[in-house]
Amino acid sequence: MIKKGNAYLILCMSLIFNIHSNFHAAYSQSAMTNLSARHCVNLNGKWQVIIDPTGTGNWRQVWLEKKPEKKTDFYEYSFEESPVLNVPGDFNTQKPELTYYEGTVWYKKIFDCHSIKNKRLFLHFGAVNYVADVYLNGNRIGSHEGGFTPFQFEITNAVKEGEDSIVVMVNNQRKKDGIPGLGYDWFNYGGITRDVNVVETDNSFIEDYFIQLKKHSLNEVLGWIKISGNILAQKVSVIIPELGVDYKTKSNKEGMAEINFHSTFKLWSPDNPKLYKVILQSETDTVVENIGFRSIETQGTKIVLNDKPLFLKGINIHEENPLRAARAFSESDALVLLTWAKELGCNFVRLAHYPHNEYMVRLAEKMGMMVWDEIPVYQHIEFSAQGVTDKITLMMREMIRRDKNRCGVVIWSISNETYDSTPNRTNALISLSQQCRLLDSTRLITSAICSQGYSNNTFDVWDTLYRHFDVVSINEYLGWYVPWQGNSKEVKWNLVCNDKPIIISEFGGEALYGSNYGPKDEAASWSEEYQEQIYKDQIEMLGTTPNLSGVCPWLLVDYRSLGRLHPIFQNGWNRKGLISERGDKKKAWYILKTYYESIINEY
Ligand code: GCU
Repeated sequence: MIKKGNAYLILCMSLIFNIHSNFHAAYSQSAMTNLSARHCVNLNGKWQVIIDPTGTGNWRQVWLEKKPEKKTDFYEYSFEESPVLNVPGDFNTQKPELTYYEGTVWYKKIFDCHSIKNKRLFLHFGAVNYVADVYLNGNRIGSHEGGFTPFQFEITNAVKEGEDSIVVMVNNQRKKDGIPGLGYDWFNYGGITRDVNVVETDNSFIEDYFIQLKKHSLNEVLGWIKISGNILAQKVSVIIPELGVDYKTKSNKEGMAEINFHSTFKLWSPDNPKLYKVILQSETDTVVENIGFRSIETQGTKIVLNDKPLFLKGINIHEENPLRAARAFSESDALVLLTWAKELGCNFVRLAHYPHNEYMVRLAEKMGMMVWDEIPVYQHIEFSAQGVTDKITLMMREMIRRDKNRCGVVIWSISNETYDSTPNRTNALISLSQQCRLLDSTRLITSAICSQGYSNNTFDVWDTLYRHFDVVSINEYLGWYVPWQGNSKEVKWNLVCNDKPIIISEFGGEALYGSNYGPKDEAASWSEEYQEQIYKDQIEMLGTTPNLSGVCPWLLVDYRSLGRLHPIFQNGWNRKGLISERGDKKKAWYILKTYYESIINEY
């Protein structure tokens, strides 16, 4: 039963669902999370493909998979004789002719699962970059735009006896009104980049849930469970065997059940990343999740975890496994990256600049690393173009929907380095921050901004957008793009918000591993010593930074970016990593590691 008091909760719940239904009549449905708790037919593996650089596949209607019947028939396409690609995986690193490819690739997969009485079937994609048009047995079932969030389609009434055939038109061309837009500093990996599953549920099932501590509380859970299907009003319970919690309630005629109970939790923290087995039960469905409980908030200029002041020792990471020089998608990829971050002494990772795969977020949580989750509202965004703010809102909802039960996720970032000179930027981001807060008020909200002034060795952090966020996140590149104008220990700060915590969300410089200079020589740019000096100076400056609650250098490991053109020092790689693409640690790595060892958090 939903108590009147929780009008706010009712508002959030209705917002989460109504908006989805408005947005998506003919579009993708909001995707289920925690598939590991569901009965799935996994469609990963080899998919037949048609590489279609001119996009003729559309007017040839390749999704109809026409086959010649008589000798004189012919169709100028065929999946049967076509090459195959691995799914999940970007297509650029699977075939030399696709290395720099930005265009259309048609994917086809056969599967066999027919609908069963009282069961529903959903075709679920972890992510497809960038646009996906999806067909089943020759019929279009929907499409999705956005390369880094999950989506699904109900196919209960679309599957047939025997084999079913999925065709997906994937196009990774950059778009002026895309999110991100035309220019961004990472490799535009295209393809079906994450897992594909056919999910089977009961007719009425637990479609979604939010089980986290209430804001400002260390022992009160305030959340909800949403039932979907023809039996919406059901008995619902939340069971946490380890704590003896067996909370019983009912869902209302919209299928909504408010969840509100107290317990004494071992709170999740980097030192003790405690996750509880949580069983969500309704009369027709059961979902088992591993959930941690912690509170994260700001108190004045401090970031506070479980009521204790916290210093975020972070690092930026792109979703790329450098050892494979390809888009990361698996738990083992995540382990490579997060193990390096742990070794560096991090308790926090900024997953730049888009929601990484769910393995990454869940593994970070298991390893005791807090997560900054971000949507790719990156630099040049056409905020005033038709439909752009809707796309951004959709992406934010998809990100929050997927990761809202991850206690490791402590910050939602709604943009990176957008410019206030861009029409409609500030209004769009203010409204987005308000929607974000309505969707989830239990986490911190921010945007990384780089528009601060710097003259006479003084930063002028003036962007009023910061007033709408919980944390002031500053990207600055003193020592690399911006020369120092004085002693790093004497940097002064003018802040538009002096009552909020500050995170230096990016700083750094490039170095090619192995390019070294002797102690007597003046270290030149691109050398490890030059990067090392940037870190030494930055760490000195951090000592002068008011309200500093976290640091997140750019970045953990070198990564591919085609805009990085220096043939020797870059060759299509951004070399600001502290580790080379072969895993070699650069000199600056040790400077940051020592700095992080010097900061002790009482969790
Ligand atoms: C920016 C940006 C990053 C970029 C970095 C760089 O601040 O946010 O995406 O890669 O600077 O220039 O290396």
